[in-house]
Amino acid sequence: MKKQSADSEPLVGSEFPDDAFAEIRALLLARRDLDLDMYKDRCLKRRIATRIRRCGFHEATSYIALLHRSEQEVDSLVEALMIHVSQFFRNPSTFILLEEKILPLLINKLHAFGRSEINIWSVGCAGGEEPYSLALLLDNLDRKGLGVKILATDLSDDIIHQASQGCYEEQRLVEVPPEILARYFVKEDRHYHLAKRIRKMVTFRQHNILGKDLFPACDMIMCRNVMIYFSREEQENVFHRFAKALNSEGYLILGRAETLQGNTRRLFTVESPAERIYRRTLAEAY
Ligand SMILES: C[S@@+](CC[C@H](N)C(=O)[O-])C[C@H]1O[C@@H](n2cnc3c(N)ncnc32)[C@H](O)[C@@H]1O
Repeated sequence: MKKQSADSEPLVGSEFPDDAFAEIRALLLARRDLDLDMYKDRCLKRRIATRIRRCGFHEATSYIALLHRSEQEVDSLVEALMIHVSQFFRNPSTFILLEEKILPLLINKLHAFGRSEINIWSVGCAGGEEPYSLALLLDNLDRKGLGVKILATDLSDDIIHQASQGCYEEQRLVEVPPEILARYFVKEDRHYHLAKRIRKMVTFRQHNILGKDLFPACDMIMCRNVMIYFSREEQENVFHRFAKALNSEGYLILGRAETLQGNTRRLFTVESPAERIYRRTLAEAY
């Protein structure tokens, strides 16, 4: 088969020119305060190349020119770089452990301390499936009069807006037990709408965990399938900040493929190695 000339060959991630990548990195840092240095290169290059092809370009220079003149394309590129895959009760065994052990323990402790509220932060919440799953669990637990505040944040404005609507296709709900589905969702056309009472338990906000914004104080942080995209150094930095944000003996829950890095291990006790659940230890105070 005759080989195409370099000009007309579609751009692929593995051949993405370093200088073009550096230019895009600088542009996103200046315009969106998004530092791609903190993410792993190989996934980024592949996704940028896909976006460039989707825009109809075969090389990076014309695409960079488009980025310079279009704010909308900068937003679209940020969207293309993020993966928002999620599901209600993703990894169900984690949620079973939360429901049967971790949350009741936490509720008892907060109640004993005279607290009136439980504060949870869902980081990289994507379409809201994760924080809403927590809200559904808490709605069905004896909370001993404690109020619930779940803050759900993500880098992407678009996905945060979508999450606040609480409207889902069936594939996001395959792990939802039938009685929960019947009780809390209304099906209209091909979408399932989550009950307003549960939606009101969650506040959505745009937030970049690699940025300078403060981390909110909380009793539990759920940050699953977000760290995998970050460099080891950056993960360690974020874990330190999580430890600072967590109230003493608060919980940190990571994704199945994630683990604490470096000397952040000494800040937590492992509650469940399989479910990646860690408890902030009292010993090492900041
Ligand atoms: C694969 S989803 C994980 C969704 C959910 N936590 C789960 O496990 O099902 C990763 C999410 O992390 C978000 N994300 C990536 N970088 C981020 C950052 N620097 N700050 C906050 N969120 C980020 C993405 O926008 C995306 O929605």
